[in-house]
Amino acid sequence: MKILFLCSGGDAPGMNRYIWELYSKFKKDLYFAYAGFDGLIKGKIFPLSSVIDKSLKDEAGTVTKTSRCPEFKQAKYFKMGLENAKQFDVVIVFGGNGSQKGAKQLFENGINTIFVPGTIDNDVLDCEYSIGFSTAVKEGVYAIDNSMPSNDAMDLACIYEVMGRESDRIALKVAEMVCADYCISDKKSLNLEKLKKIIEINYENQLSTCIVLRENLIDPKELTDKLNQEFQKKIVRFHIVGRTQRGGKPTEEELNMATKYAKKTVQCIKSKTYGVRLLANLDLDVETKPFI
Ligand code: F6P
Repeated sequence: MKILFLCSGGDAPGMNRYIWELYSKFKKDLYFAYAGFDGLIKGKIFPLSSVIDKSLKDEAGTVTKTSRCPEFKQAKYFKMGLENAKQFDVVIVFGGNGSQKGAKQLFENGINTIFVPGTIDNDVLDCEYSIGFSTAVKEGVYAIDNSMPSNDAMDLACIYEVMGRESDRIALKVAEMVCADYCISDKKSLNLEKLKKIIEINYENQLSTCIVLRENLIDPKELTDKLNQEFQKKIVRFHIVGRTQRGGKPTEEELNMATKYAKKTVQCIKSKTYGVRLLANLDLDVETKPFI
């Protein structure tokens, strides 16, 4: 049996654990497409044994490399990728919603495909937990916990921008964990007057203010400058947490979820269950659902 694995889109902490678990099961039968669909198109396909490294199994990143590959949506490049995919009995695609579409398209063209959700944003359709989320939240909390005491010392407000692309899930979870004073997770919650009031009251009471902002809503510098201008003093700062959320050491929950996803993948391959998405439910058990 020949199994092909690829990571696609942004890397997510936990990917390496998933890869390791899969490798432990399939060894020489397992291959990977270098940096995702790009490698599939170009035929950059290698045995996983050439990159596997046990010492990296609990580290962030991915030994197979990953990339965003908009070309895969074009018929010409898709066909090239499809031809290479045809050499395998199974193709496993690991990534977010965009990658899921690529996996579905391969399945519709006769490839035995399995999709596994891996994105820190945790915004995969029908899925309660995608690999990377717990670590991304942990890193957001870490950044805030390690800088708020300094803001407390000066009664300052700080806007922390966290990742999440179009999804509010990281911002909401981080805000909940640090008991933030305000969370801007979507356009509706971007209420400047309310935010100003909170900062003002805290400042008058010699208190700091912790604000969590989801990326792609408003430029944190612009927001900070605007608030400081209105207060006519510099009492607001900002900090972009950003990419440290992707590179953070995977949490125990992350590693457990990655292992669960790998076990389910093995079950699917053994039972020849293809054309499926692996999705964690509310109890964080991994289920299979057909592509939609
Ligand atoms: O999708 C994961 C993610 O980390 C998003 O939270 C973020 O918006 C995006 O990737 C950043 O992508 P890139 O690293 O390609 O700029």
